Amino acid sequence: MKVVSTKAELRAALATSHKPAFVPTMGALHQGHISLMHFARSRGDAVVVSIFVNPTQFGAGEDFAEYPRTMEADLEKCAAAGVDVVFTPSVTTMYPHGVGDISIDPGPLGAILEGAQRPTHFRGVLTVVAKLLGLVQPAVAVFGEKDYQQLVLIRRMVKELSINTDIVGAPIIREADGLAMSSRNVYLSPADREKSLVIPKALQAGASAANQGEAAVLAAAQEVFDQSGITPDYLVVTDSELGESKPGADARLLVAAKVGTPRLLDNIHLRLGN
Ligand code: PAF
Repeated sequence: MKVVSTKAELRAALATSHKPAFVPTMGALHQGHISLMHFARSRGDAVVVSIFVNPTQFGAGEDFAEYPRTMEADLEKCAAAGVDVVFTPSVTTMYPHGVGDISIDPGPLGAILEGAQRPTHFRGVLTVVAKLLGLVQPAVAVFGEKDYQQLVLIRRMVKELSINTDIVGAPIIREADGLAMSSRNVYLSPADREKSLVIPKALQAGASAANQGEAAVLAAAQEVFDQSGITPDYLVVTDSELGESKPGADARLLVAAKVGTPRLLDNIHLRLGN
């Protein structure tokens, strides 16, 4: 496995790969990321992982400084997962003209849900992902479905900007008790870790009511939250592209809730009844 941190080193490391599969990450790797790497393995002739805590996707007062940085352990996990190249750029490598330079406007979809709470977040995500795709030029890039809005926006960006990479969404990986894996779960105190289970339970309750339509899904999920004393930031049903859901079609139930310190995101696929 090669670990590179400059653009020139990355180009040299990828010189013999025609069809790399790419997993962009911010490190603090967990089983969810490893599953993305295995997914990538089956899709490309080389697996490239980037580890970069991207400053532009953190808002003022968010956890950029505290975000878990575990490079040594991350590299061991990448090696064990059979990754070929790990790209660990510095902020100056990614933003040579500073973080306020050219950026990508996520449009209206970037202003709803997560974007309503974090107005600069998706501009930062799309900007860094566009830069990384330009550098790695992968045939395929794999993103987890946990950050569902991010996945939809990246798909849309790649289409709108005619970037020649297939964007693949990989299923959410959960702890044995149902909590979606996330690098931010380390912020949960033991008591909040217990409370966080309201999120997967609410999604399950919502999904069980899918036959009866959107209103029933929301009522069932909300009831689980009501019993827990945790108020979600949002709890919504959308279609697969984050537009209005339609009866008899695929849909998503999406939730964000603050449990103690971290804000946790989760979602589940639904097939709504007629
Ligand atoms: O999902 C993440 O970890 C990040 O948002 C991403 C896609 C690596 C961009 O920094």
